[in-house]
Amino acid sequence: MVPTWLEHADPHKVIQALIKVPHLDEQLSRMPVAEQTVRSRLQTLNELAWNTQGAAAEIARLSAQRCLYELNRLRLYWGDDPELYINERSCVLSQLHQLLEAPWEAWLEQRLPSEDLEVPDAASALIAWAERDRAPSPTPQSQWLADSMSIVGYRRLLEVSSLNGLVEASQLSRALGGAPTSVQATLSRIFVEEYGAGRLAKKHSTYFARMLEQQGLSTAPEAYFERVPWEVLGAINHAFYLAENKQQYLRFCGAFTYTETSTPAGFWGYAEATKRPGLSDGQNDFWALHVREDERHGAWMIEQVALPLLQQFPGRQRDVLRGYLQQREVENLAGRATYNACREAERGLS
Ligand SMILES: [Fe+2]
Ligand SMILES: [Fe+2]
Repeated sequence: MVPTWLEHADPHKVIQALIKVPHLDEQLSRMPVAEQTVRSRLQTLNELAWNTQGAAAEIARLSAQRCLYELNRLRLYWGDDPELYINERSCVLSQLHQLLEAPWEAWLEQRLPSEDLEVPDAASALIAWAERDRAPSPTPQSQWLADSMSIVGYRRLLEVSSLNGLVEASQLSRALGGAPTSVQATLSRIFVEEYGAGRLAKKHSTYFARMLEQQGLSTAPEAYFERVPWEVLGAINHAFYLAENKQQYLRFCGAFTYTETSTPAGFWGYAEATKRPGLSDGQNDFWALHVREDERHGAWMIEQVALPLLQQFPGRQRDVLRGYLQQREVENLAGRATYNACREAERGLS
């Protein structure tokens, strides 16, 4: 008999259904064929997504990233029924998680030429990269966002960004704690600031929620999941991958250094797009807040996290550098996809 969860043609729906099956591992141990069917369907999806190009590959990438997101989101609590987390420690889900994650991470890895990491001195390379990424010239995309995007594009920007903006800094929470070090102390300090020092009204995500409310949009964190391009999901899934694996701790710190360093420039176009139609005074919206705060956070990450780690782990310096450059790549992909989503919304294409 075919279990009901296997009847879905969409792999994302299969994963969503599997997560809710009571005693999943036990049930599947009695249905090896069903388990094998899921596995081979995901392998086919991976093959199409990460080893081919074109329209079908794009659809497969979206599907693969959605599946991965469903599994990753179980690492956080969403304020809902605890019963929804019954399979958070399932061995089967953990294997499927790795099955989906490995080819995506390998694909991302290939986009970073290894010679980019061949630097004579890691600390000076990192300082130079941060200098470059702190204040780059506006791109044609960010210029369009700043000068020309209408309210239609702006609303799409909020929808697409809400999946991240409403739970912003959550993955950082998964890298905190453990043995006390000055690096952990800085990361914790940033986390506390992201969380408004424990005041919900000052939490960065509350600023995001206000922009949604202003537009009459939903403030539920996953309300616009269907609108989110695969590249944005990919950035979220990559953040989970780095934060959840202590083996990747140095890469996580390198990646977070890029994020905090580049955000003021990265959000410039969004901040202008919010200010221009008078939706903000340019001081107190989510984007303007980050342009201001992340200048500090970026400097802390370089001076108090990345550089000390390079000194502490001379044999693992590449991990910090790789984390930084890879994050640059993943955020560029997500930024371009977000821009394209706004343009398409304006042209009435989606
Ligand atoms: Fe923030
Ligand atoms: Fe920050």
